[in-house]
Amino acid sequence: MIQKTFLMVKPDGVQRSIIGEVISRFEKKGFQLVGAKLMHISQELAETHYGEHKEKPFFGELVKFITSGPVFAMVWEGENVISVSRQMVGKTNPQEALPGTIRGDYGLIVDKNIIHGSDSPESAEREISLFFESEELTFYKKDADAWIY
Ligand code: PPS
Repeated sequence: MIQKTFLMVKPDGVQRSIIGEVISRFEKKGFQLVGAKLMHISQELAETHYGEHKEKPFFGELVKFITSGPVFAMVWEGENVISVSRQMVGKTNPQEALPGTIRGDYGLIVDKNIIHGSDSPESAEREISLFFESEELTFYKKDADAWIY
């Protein structure tokens, strides 16, 4: 099942120069980057994006953190990309994330966990449309696909 998902390198990942490493992992896996931009998240966008966590005790800190510096927002496409990319991202708490996952390899504490990934088809659709206009996404055939699929 070919899907699209939303992945975002958070301000800590941008500051620590991990953008290239993140892109490289998903590219090597066989996924296709169809949209990307370096951007600052507004307070309003942060509160909408994390709206389902509004009542959590960490909500204020989460919004403050995600708006504290540029993020690198991306849309990736490929076979089961939503669940496979979540596995590659690793558990929310980097101390529980397995080595080999992005959070397991680069993160140490839960409130600076490097990367966000959509957790379901519904959130992928919602988050992609929150961050990207449809004309910002590019679709193209890659010759390498024949060697992946
Ligand atoms: S929960 O409580 O299970 O719904 O939380 P979870 O889905 O694991 O996490 C929701 C997002 O909040 C971030 N998070 C935190 N931020 C700051 N402080 C603390 N303690 C904290 N705990 C969780 C977590 O990284 C999730 O953000 P994303 O961007 O989705 O990874």
